[in-house]
Amino acid sequence: MQVKKAVIPAAGMGTRFLPVTKSMPKEMLPLVDTPAIHFVVKEAVDAGIDDIIIITGRGKRSIENYFDESPELELFLKKKGKPEILDFIAEITNMVNVHYIRQKEPCGLPNAILQAEKHVGDEPFAVLLGDDIIKSDKPCIEQLIEVFTKVKSSVLAVQEVPLEKISRYGSIDGTKVQPNNISENILYKVQDIVEKPRPEDAPSLIASIGRYVFTPEIFDCIHQTKPGVNNELQIADSIRLLMKNQEMYASEFHGHRYDIGDKLGYLEAVIDYALEKTDLSKDLKKFLKTRC
Ligand code: G1P
Repeated sequence: MQVKKAVIPAAGMGTRFLPVTKSMPKEMLPLVDTPAIHFVVKEAVDAGIDDIIIITGRGKRSIENYFDESPELELFLKKKGKPEILDFIAEITNMVNVHYIRQKEPCGLPNAILQAEKHVGDEPFAVLLGDDIIKSDKPCIEQLIEVFTKVKSSVLAVQEVPLEKISRYGSIDGTKVQPNNISENILYKVQDIVEKPRPEDAPSLIASIGRYVFTPEIFDCIHQTKPGVNNELQIADSIRLLMKNQEMYASEFHGHRYDIGDKLGYLEAVIDYALEKTDLSKDLKKFLKTRC
């Protein structure tokens, strides 16, 4: 029951970041010099996952190029004597085995996950959504895997959000597991999950964010899922079906989440990442002070 595979859906159109996403995948938007998807793949790798399936689509070739070998570039950097960046470039390629499956049309998150059904087979697996970048000592997905290993049921990551934002998420109806001998994180047993509720209809402000560990039974549930909110297939509806036959847990996590699917969240991530870079932080701080 070890979690060794991760699915990263990356077939969406990125409409919130138009026009730039007209000609580049939103997953390749950089945090200074490193594309967002790098951080998501790295989180999975750091959690011990060694098989990654990225669900891509038309116009997403640059993601494949990014994780592929780049012999000309490496030779060039070797000649120029730039060992640090050369090491980083080689590390990207050697990080993990990445497999790509193309989704013909972006038809919602459950359908993207379903593309990986054959590759995942009869194993539990992780799902990481690229809109969430999570900075933490222990990878967020590892925190979920630890819970999964104990409860042997599907687990999703949650975070409390303000009332005005709950309609962007799956909202959890759950009870705190008490006493919690399972995890250092606050843990909920989920009774229900409501996708993108109006604030007045939300069962709670505990929102499902883009990290999941599923047992393979989720695939059958996705097959049975009918279009829900906005007439789209919604993962919360697949989870509801899964809960008919399996306990579902929701875990808070230690770490800071950037919602980079949102322009402000993206800028926050870029600035924080830049502030961590020794060659940028001093001058950037000076600049920011002149603006505040
Ligand atoms: C998806 C899920 C939703 C979850 C959210 C987390 O929504 O459907 O349940 O809360 O991710 O980011 P999306 O952001 O794709 O609309």
